[in-house]
Amino acid sequence: MVSNRKIGVCYYPEHWPEVQWSEDARRMAALGIAYVRIGEFAWSRLEPARGQSAFEWLERAIATMHDAGLKIILGTPTATPPKWLVNEMPDMLPVDQHGHTIGFGSRKHYCFSHRGYRAECERIVTALAERFGQHPAITGWQIDNEYACHDTTRNWSNASLLAFRQWLRQRYGSIEKLNKAWGNVFWSMEYNEFEAIDLPALTPSENNPAHRMDFYRFSSDQVVDFNRLQANILRKLSPGRDLIHNFMGRTLTFDHFELGGDLDVSAWDSYPLGFLEDRSDADAAWRRRFARAGDPDFQAFHHDLYRATSGGRWWVMEQQPGPVNWAEHNPAPRNGMVRLWSLEAFAHGAEVVSYFRWRQLPFGQEQMHAGLLRPDGVETEAFDEAKAVVKDLEALAFSDGEPAEAAIVFDYASAWAWEIQPQGRDFDYFRLVFDHYRALRRKGLSVDILPTDTADLSNYRLVLIPGLFAWNQTLVDALRSFSGVVLIGPRSGSKTTEFRIPDNLPPDLADDLLDLTVAQVESLRADSPLDMNDMPGQLMFWREFLKTGEQCRTELSSSDGKPVLVRQDKRYYLGGWPNDICLDGIVGRLCGEAGLETLELPDGLRIRRSGTYTFAFNYGDSPVNLAAVGLKGTLVLGESTVAPADVAIITTRGV
Ligand code: GAL
Repeated sequence: MVSNRKIGVCYYPEHWPEVQWSEDARRMAALGIAYVRIGEFAWSRLEPARGQSAFEWLERAIATMHDAGLKIILGTPTATPPKWLVNEMPDMLPVDQHGHTIGFGSRKHYCFSHRGYRAECERIVTALAERFGQHPAITGWQIDNEYACHDTTRNWSNASLLAFRQWLRQRYGSIEKLNKAWGNVFWSMEYNEFEAIDLPALTPSENNPAHRMDFYRFSSDQVVDFNRLQANILRKLSPGRDLIHNFMGRTLTFDHFELGGDLDVSAWDSYPLGFLEDRSDADAAWRRRFARAGDPDFQAFHHDLYRATSGGRWWVMEQQPGPVNWAEHNPAPRNGMVRLWSLEAFAHGAEVVSYFRWRQLPFGQEQMHAGLLRPDGVETEAFDEAKAVVKDLEALAFSDGEPAEAAIVFDYASAWAWEIQPQGRDFDYFRLVFDHYRALRRKGLSVDILPTDTADLSNYRLVLIPGLFAWNQTLVDALRSFSGVVLIGPRSGSKTTEFRIPDNLPPDLADDLLDLTVAQVESLRADSPLDMNDMPGQLMFWREFLKTGEQCRTELSSSDGKPVLVRQDKRYYLGGWPNDICLDGIVGRLCGEAGLETLELPDGLRIRRSGTYTFAFNYGDSPVNLAAVGLKGTLVLGESTVAPADVAIITTRGV
C-alpha cells in the first residue's frame, strides 16, 4: 500500500564535512525518509559578509539530497541574522520591557518591526528564491523558525514604538477616539497626540488593560506581517511549493490562525517530554508519572489546534527523538514512545512527521540534544522506531478531512486578555481550554479546534466555548442557527473588544440566546475550592454569580445554593472553573444530551478516530485491554491488550 503519510528529518549540512553528505543522504533514503528540512539557520554561511554570497555549498547539498531521492524543505535563515548584519544596524536587536537590549550570540535576536531588518530579510529571501525556487528537489519552504519562541514576539525597541504609534493611528484615526476607547479619563491618562503614547512597560501600578491589549494585538500583527513579507516573495519566485512555518507548543503571543492564512501547511515542533517539564500545569505526581511518555493530551491538543490554522494541512516539523537539552530535567523517552508520538500525529491528520535531528551535534548549544544518530553516527533507539513507523505506514490507509465529534473554540485574543487581567492569579486561558479538551478526551471523543470567526457549527453535536474574551458576530450568528449542544463560559463575552465590560453585562448575548446576567465574579484560592450540590467535584479558581431570566433555568448549583450551570434550550452557561471530577460530570451530561457515545478512559489511554480506524495510544505504565474500556472492533495494528508505549488500531469495518 502506498501511504499518504511520510516521515522526514531535520539536517544541517553546514555542520558536517561535505564528504559525509552523500552517505547521510543514502542512509536517510534507506530508512524511508521522504523529506529533509535544511538551511534555516545558515545565514552566516550563505553570506559571510556584506556583499558576499556563497550559495554554492547549498546548491551541492541540495543536489546530494536530490540524487538520493529526497525532497527538500528549504528554510529561510531569518531567525539567525549574522553578526556583521547586527553590527551594521544594532538597533534591530530586541529590547525587553525593562529596556535591556537582547544581544547577539544565540538566535531570534531581531525586532519584527525594524524596517532595515525587514529589508534585509526580503533581500536574502529573494536571493534564495531566485536561486533555488524552481529547483525540482525543493517542494516547500519553511519561513523563519518558531515565531515567538524564546519570548520574542513583544518588543520594547524604538522600532517597535514607532510602528505601534502608526498602528494606533490607523486603528483609531484620531487621538480622541483612542482616549475614549481606552477609557483614558481614568487616572488622567489622556493623550493629546499619538506621538505621546509609549509602549506599555513599567509603571508604578498596572498599565491600562486596553493599552496593553492593543500592544499585544499590534505585536501579533507584526509577526503576521513579517511572515507575509517572505510568503509574498516565495509565492512569486517559487510557485507551486508549500509555504510552511513551524509553530511551537503553548505559544500564545501571536494569532496562529491569522498567520496560518498565509501558509499552505502549518507545522509544529513536538517535544512531549520537554513540554511536560516546562509548559505543563500538571502537578508533580502527574509529571513524574508521565515523565518518559509526555502528557497524554498535550500533543493531541496542538495537533488539533494547528490542523485548524491553515485549512487542514499540517505537519510535525520537529519530533523529539530522545532527551532534549532545554528543559529542567531531560529524561529519555520510554522505548516505543517515538513511534507512538509519530503514529498519533498521523492519526490526527499530519502529512509528515519529521524528526529533529538527523545526528546529535558534538558542539554548540544543543550538543546534549539527541538525534536519530549518535554523534559518532551509530543509530539510536529513535532510528529504529522511525523505521518501525515506516513499516506501520505501509500497512495503513488514512482518510482525512472528516469532522470530529466535538469542537472547542480557541482564541488567541482571549489568552492575551486574561494574561493582562487574570483577576485572580490562577486564571490562565490555555489551562482553562486545555482542561475542557482533556475532559472531552477522557470520554474518548475526538475534537476539532475552531477559530472565533467560525460561521457554521453544524458539523458538530457538541461545541465548547470556554473563556472567550469578546464575541465575534460571526460566531454569535453561528450559535443562533446551531442545533447541537453548546457550553459557554466561564467568562465568555465578559468584555467588548475595547476591553470594557459590555453595557448589558456578561455574557453579552441577546435574551433569546441566553437570558442571563453575570452579576459579579470572584476568584477562589486554590486551597479553598467550592463544593457542588448534587454532583461530585468542586469549582476551583473562579466562580460567577448568575442571575437567570425567565427563559433560562438552573441545572447545577454550588453548595451555597448559587447557580453554576444554567441552560436555555441546548445552550448551557458555566459560571465557574470546575475541577476534573466536576468537569467530567458536566461534559458527561452534555454528551448525553448531544447523543454522543462516551467511554471512561484511564489516564494513560487516549484514542483518536480517523475514518474507519480507531487508534489507541497507551501513554501509561500498565497494559490496557481495549474491550475492557469499551473499544471493540477488528484489530488492524497491534494487540487487543495495548502495552505501555504501544499503539493499536481497530476498525469497525472488515479489513
Ligand atoms: C526547536 C528549534 C530547533 C531546536 C530544537 C531543540 O525549538 O526549532 O532549532 O532548537 O528546538 O529541541
